[in-house]
Amino acid sequence: MSVIVPGGTIGILGGGQLGRMTGMAARSLGYDVQVLDPDPDCPARAVASRTITARFDDADAAADLARDCDVVTLEIEQIGRPALEAVSGMAPLRPRAEAIFTVQDRIRQRSWLDTHGFPVGGYRAVMTADECADAVSVLGPSICKSPMGGYDGRGQRRVRTPDEAREAHESLGGGRVIVEQFLDLDLELSVLVARREDGAFAVYPPSVNHHVHGVLDWAICPGGLAAPLVQHAQQVAHAIADTMGIVGLLAVELFLTKDGRLLVNELAPRPHNTYHHSERGHSTSQFEQLVRAVCGLPLGEVASVVPAAIANLLGDLWVEGARPHFAEALTIPDVRLHLYGKASARPGRKMGHLSAIAPSAQEALDKVLEARRLLSPD
Ligand SMILES: Nc1ncnc2c1ncn2[C@@H]1O[C@H](COP(=O)(O)OP(=O)(O)O)[C@@H](O)[C@H]1O
Ligand SMILES: [Mg+2]
Repeated sequence: MSVIVPGGTIGILGGGQLGRMTGMAARSLGYDVQVLDPDPDCPARAVASRTITARFDDADAAADLARDCDVVTLEIEQIGRPALEAVSGMAPLRPRAEAIFTVQDRIRQRSWLDTHGFPVGGYRAVMTADECADAVSVLGPSICKSPMGGYDGRGQRRVRTPDEAREAHESLGGGRVIVEQFLDLDLELSVLVARREDGAFAVYPPSVNHHVHGVLDWAICPGGLAAPLVQHAQQVAHAIADTMGIVGLLAVELFLTKDGRLLVNELAPRPHNTYHHSERGHSTSQFEQLVRAVCGLPLGEVASVVPAAIANLLGDLWVEGARPHFAEALTIPDVRLHLYGKASARPGRKMGHLSAIAPSAQEALDKVLEARRLLSPD
């Protein structure tokens, strides 16, 4: 296994907040960082020694990034295949192109999970409005999702009837759509797995996550889940990462249904919003762990050291020139503010998060929610 020791250069495809925080961790460990992102003012620019401004399907730009790097990883999976292959020809790409390609399309990802025997909810891949309507008449109330490019609940439509399914198919732009049965959820959780090229791995304890309108609102760890459920979720997540041959991180989003089924919702081959509390509650943050995993260093400890919580800060807090009351939020003991350095705030855009630690996850959550309330301009 090739080890990239501190002093080396890590390339990151994507310069959003995940790239920025990965870059900070890489810098702490003594690595140089270069990023590629279409936005010249991307959040990771502040920590990168070189920022290449290019689209994610620009194979020449991707090769240009890789040429200067000892290893390349990513913080967003929507990278064109030719660009992934151009990187692979120049430097180790971790995770490898094939795994990213499988994950980046919801239909490919779901059928991969299904054919490999991982538990998923009812779904159908459709092409036409008629097929979409048929799927809903079989599955019942469902969510229609665009296969590519959706995040934070974007590119999704909830439907109850075949007629609504037709409309949803059209409003999603037609063509390939995945229809997923709407599940009655007890809770949502995620499990982060770090895996090295030689198969060494570390599985974080599950995070319990709360979404509002399809966007993560808060996350806590530990989540107060029964031990057998924790074990089951960790086993499933590790088996997926192993089968897929992930080198780096794999975040596995899971649903626990009211009738007690543990189902895989979706995968992300990179750091994940739901594990931002790992910077507070674990001796190894997800960002440091990614650096360790892709560089072939020993993986860090992942047991929970102290209960931790995060709450997301969306652009809505900034609307109409409002200035959030940062100083007030920071009066809450053990609360930290994490801002991503995004110049323009739009409603729904992730601008930052608050984190806290406390003797229990509930108290940590109370702290971040109270801090967010204090921060709110109204
Ligand atoms: N089949 C489903 N049944 C119930 N809720 C769902 C289903 N699919 C998605 N959701 C809800 O929408 C959220 C976002 O959906 P997800 O597929 O994870 O897309 P995204 O890429 O936007 O995170 C989920 O975290 C969950 O709260
Ligand atoms: Mg999701």
